Amino acid sequence: MSNLIEVRGVTKTFGGVVANRDISIDVAPGQITGLIGPNGSGKTTLFNSIVGYHPIDEGSIKFKGKEISKLRVQQIARLGMVRTFQQTRIYGKLSGINNMLISVPHRNASFGDMFRPYGHEHRERAEHLLEFVGLYQKRKLPSGDLSFGQQKLLEFAMALMNEPEILLLDEPTAGINPTLINGLIDRLKRANSEFGITLFVIEHNMRVIMNLAHEIYCLAHGELLASGPPEKIQNDQRVIDAYLGAH
Ligand SMILES: Nc1ncnc2c1ncn2[C@@H]1O[C@H](COP(=O)(O)OP(=O)(O)O)[C@@H](O)[C@H]1O
Ligand SMILES: [Mg+2]
Repeated sequence: MSNLIEVRGVTKTFGGVVANRDISIDVAPGQITGLIGPNGSGKTTLFNSIVGYHPIDEGSIKFKGKEISKLRVQQIARLGMVRTFQQTRIYGKLSGINNMLISVPHRNASFGDMFRPYGHEHRERAEHLLEFVGLYQKRKLPSGDLSFGQQKLLEFAMALMNEPEILLLDEPTAGINPTLINGLIDRLKRANSEFGITLFVIEHNMRVIMNLAHEIYCLAHGELLASGPPEKIQNDQRVIDAYLGAH
């Protein structure tokens, strides 16, 4: 099968700032693709362009062969593309299970349906996924009482409620302690291998992305610096310099 996502020549500016310049990338179906680069290199901007959060200035973005660069977030989500955010977006006063249930309409219904009661099958699936991420015991606690790492796991489970074909994760391990990071990486790999979900992951932590991704793209100053499998990227002098130069 051809690529799930094809980005070609995408440029996005904010006023005078060129956040992405002439970016072309491919996300292969069934794989884990990584997007790395120093802070401010344009990673989140590229995600925002792909999911339809803002219009691009130039270029083309295809999902399953269909041009989506003129579509809006909800339309793209309905095609099977779901994303998570650098900051979590959960309701702290609601329990884990209720956060899971209200996350469903993201793809399957309109905003007005947000608080309708959900059928038993959704609850069962929600419980199963909370078990999958290791939060089943805490499912009835207010989500605001969970640690930041646990909230990220909850957000990951919420994204899975939508049964995405592809999931875009923006720095899923940021702010999580090392013990939970290993658990999260393991869940990401299993979501890919067992549920067949294609993953496109922004990651600042080099160790994490080398261990996770099949193919990696590196941005610097809004431009594509290098791409290839982990072995190639971690030995690429331009990538090493970009990271060293950023600290
Ligand atoms: N909404 C926005 N308005 C103005 N500038 C923005 C906006 N979003 C991002 N930028 C700028 O675009 C550049 C890339 O940012 P971003 O995509 O967030 O980088 P990264 O995710 O790699 O850290 C930065 O210079 C940032 O300040
Ligand atoms: Mg970012």
